[in-house]
Amino acid sequence: MRILFVADIVGKPGRAGLERTLPRMREEHSPDLVIANGENVAGGLGITEKTAKELYAMGVDVITLGNHTYRHRDVYDYLDAERRIVRPANFMKASPGRGHTVVEVAGRRVGVINLQGTVAMRAARSPFPEADSIVDQLEGQADVLFVDFHAETTSEKVAMGWHLDGRVAAVVGTHTHVPTADARVLPQGTAFISDVGMTGSRDGVLGVRREQALESFRTQLPVRFSTSDENIWINAVVVSVAESGLADSIEHLLLPADP
Ligand SMILES: [Fe+2]
Ligand SMILES: [Fe+2]
Repeated sequence: MRILFVADIVGKPGRAGLERTLPRMREEHSPDLVIANGENVAGGLGITEKTAKELYAMGVDVITLGNHTYRHRDVYDYLDAERRIVRPANFMKASPGRGHTVVEVAGRRVGVINLQGTVAMRAARSPFPEADSIVDQLEGQADVLFVDFHAETTSEKVAMGWHLDGRVAAVVGTHTHVPTADARVLPQGTAFISDVGMTGSRDGVLGVRREQALESFRTQLPVRFSTSDENIWINAVVVSVAESGLADSIEHLLLPADP
């Protein structure tokens, strides 16, 4: 089976770009499952029920999140109710939402797990033992496991790849919005990349309008940020998963959104 994972979709320009381009990506890569990181989907920060439903309507099957999960209070009940959206599993147990989910596609049960780093980021528990306990918990309940590790540093992400090598189909990094050139299948069969990148404006600064980001850096005064809408690119990976539940290949896609 083939899994398409789309990196952090930033704001309306990111959503619109993905909606225009997803049909072509489907034709070229025939994914059985589409997973997308939606932590920046609502105005660049967080997610709402409305924007989550927009992603489902365009063909996203499962949404993963990150440090901006709880930006919009009115999404909290939705995170509890909707099984196709996950937030980092190592957040507080009492916090809204779930850290993993299992969906059935192409006759196989796919467990989607979201974790957050703790280097230069905050989470309630270390993602490493958390990953162990979820992998154990899903034994017999899922045939394929896919991990979105939302973390700041490449070191923590590379370490997670080695930690889970041979136990999950893929560990893909998100959060920095800058793609890394290290996609590969690790020796025991786990597809890995430190950061997939983002789905948003290449002419801004991590999705923000560049003149605003520059003003902030130049003046060190508060600046109101808005989402950049120039030159939208899709950053994604396609992971091909063998019968064994481990990866055959990972391909990094960096492409301009359809006009
Ligand atoms: Fe992000
Ligand atoms: Fe993030």
